[in-house]
Amino acid sequence: MGNKLVGYGSYLPSRVVTNVDLEHVMDTTDAWIVERTGIRARHFAGENETVVDMATNAARAALKKANLSINDIDMIIVATTTPEIDFPSVAVQIAGRLGATNNMPAFDVRGACTGYIYALHCARGFFTAGMHERIMIIGAEKMSRFIDMKDRSTAVLFGDGAAALIFERSTSSYSGIIDTVVMSDGKKFDMLHGSNDHKIVMNGPETYKMAVSLMPDAARYIMEHAGITQDDIDWIVPHQANIRIIESCAARLGFPIEKILITVDKHANTSGASGALALAYAFDNNIIRHGQLVLYPAFGAGLTWGATLIRV
Ligand code: ACO
Repeated sequence: MGNKLVGYGSYLPSRVVTNVDLEHVMDTTDAWIVERTGIRARHFAGENETVVDMATNAARAALKKANLSINDIDMIIVATTTPEIDFPSVAVQIAGRLGATNNMPAFDVRGACTGYIYALHCARGFFTAGMHERIMIIGAEKMSRFIDMKDRSTAVLFGDGAAALIFERSTSSYSGIIDTVVMSDGKKFDMLHGSNDHKIVMNGPETYKMAVSLMPDAARYIMEHAGITQDDIDWIVPHQANIRIIESCAARLGFPIEKILITVDKHANTSGASGALALAYAFDNNIIRHGQLVLYPAFGAGLTWGATLIRV
């Protein structure tokens, strides 16, 4: 039992914050940020704009693209680490906002920057078991709520946004979410985590080292698991954390940089929303085409890491 991608949508808050804007509020420069991270700008949500607001906008756009109504969906899974309230889930709030009346299951997964891969892993399992018809997966983050403008080493790295993909059950096992692999190592918790007072605590160089080792590992593992080679892959859409991490992963895998989708310059690191936002950007700009095979590796707090293969 397989699945196929039938719709996508994204939402970015209207406020764009450039590196030059950050120069006015902290001791940093556009040149430092571009050289160390590749980031040039990020979107920040408005003070009263919530993760649920952004996610609902992305969901609405995906439903429109797929020509579906909310009751055509029979499961919502949201990847988020930054919900404003602890319960209920963001997913169930989206279902309510969109007027769902079909009592579908709706829940969140917390996998930090790997959250979207965790959500895709769940969806693949449900499709494989033949349990659901259409699953909407949303990544949505308001990272700006965790940004400490007094910590220049983390404040420049993150942005806000949301993106949704809708998958439908299909008889083909060569379309949609083809394979997933997800892993974690809780012993490395200290390297990157949120604090009780909602700040990002990160050992940057250590995070960098782990990312450039574990993302290529996950990519190699999933290609072997799926029985494919690099030549079969049309695009790598890596978690968009940092251009140097992306370039190093590409070099370690021996992938030409032209096959790597890069949006970190425009969106910065949107954690659980990053890969889906990048995909939506690529579809909107006719970069990735229908039928192409995408490898999507990610890495994040936990530690968590993994990869997925999607034929779009
Ligand atoms: N502007 C100017 N200078 C800065 C800034 C800034 N925004 N931030 C740090 N610096 C300074 C430091 O204070 C330090 O100065 P010093 O030498 O006088 O002490 C100097 O720059 C070098 O600092 P390092 O931390 O060694 O810089 P590094 O080259 O490691 O780059 C960075 C820092 C960009 C954070 C890097 O470690 C990195 O990319 N790490 C990965 C982090 C990441 O992507 N996290 C996202 C979450 S996990 C994920 O999504 C994969």
